[in-house]
Amino acid sequence: MAPAELRDLAIDIAREAGELARRRRREGVALAATKSSLADIVTEADREVETMIRARLAAARPQDGFLGEESGEGGGTTGLTWVVDPIDGTVNYASGIPLYAVSIAVAEGTDPERWTVLAGAVHSPVVDEMFSAARGEGARLGSETLRVTQDWPAGALLSTGFGYDPSTHAGDLATVGRVMPIARDLRRGGSAATDLAYVAAGRLDGYFERGLQPWDYAAGSLLVEEAGGRFVRPEGPEVGRRLNLAGSARLVAELEQRILHNP
Ligand code: IPD
Repeated sequence: MAPAELRDLAIDIAREAGELARRRRREGVALAATKSSLADIVTEADREVETMIRARLAAARPQDGFLGEESGEGGGTTGLTWVVDPIDGTVNYASGIPLYAVSIAVAEGTDPERWTVLAGAVHSPVVDEMFSAARGEGARLGSETLRVTQDWPAGALLSTGFGYDPSTHAGDLATVGRVMPIARDLRRGGSAATDLAYVAAGRLDGYFERGLQPWDYAAGSLLVEEAGGRFVRPEGPEVGRRLNLAGSARLVAELEQRILHNP
């Protein structure tokens, strides 16, 4: 399958998954568990939506591998891995804040630090926005072509996120202090996949966050790159918590310099 066909499959499944998530939210949300900390929750809908996505992928692409936030890994024989966050922005979802998204990507390879993402879709069901990309084919919102911003005369509109582990908060706040001199303003939306989609769409100029998981950024990273931007994950002083940066090449270089090299 060509990347464009993989993208179209991701779009179809993401739309169906988004409808299911939204329906379940209307019916009420039950927490299924907390994971690493009290803030790192999983709802019953996260599990149900991932199960649905996994079943749809197993039917359409039975030989491909799978990596999902809630159900872990499943091997494959084609060298392709589907990388799935059924509800990115679970805390928003559980709290009734409509900013959450289904994120589905397919990558060539199994190692997130080396793989090549071929296609992806990020679907925000409440506002019915479908962001998608296929490698070499560009990034789109619906049928509209996306471009990252190249200039931010009034300062960069940035977004970030904070890890769920309270011991990381002081470091993350220090990082915010380092980038504010070049910021017009800062957002903390609560869904990394949506943040990256918004960078691709030029709604945000840039994004920085430490310590994302592959399912948080796989689809969004391709959206940014196919919209003419850069997504990078440089190592910083915090072992095991890479810095994720997105935006134009110039803004990413500036953010990396400020955060990692020239505090
Ligand atoms: C989280 C969101 C949040 C980001 C966290 C992620 P989840 O994903 O993307 O914006 O700050 O790092 O873990 O847990 O809602 O799927």
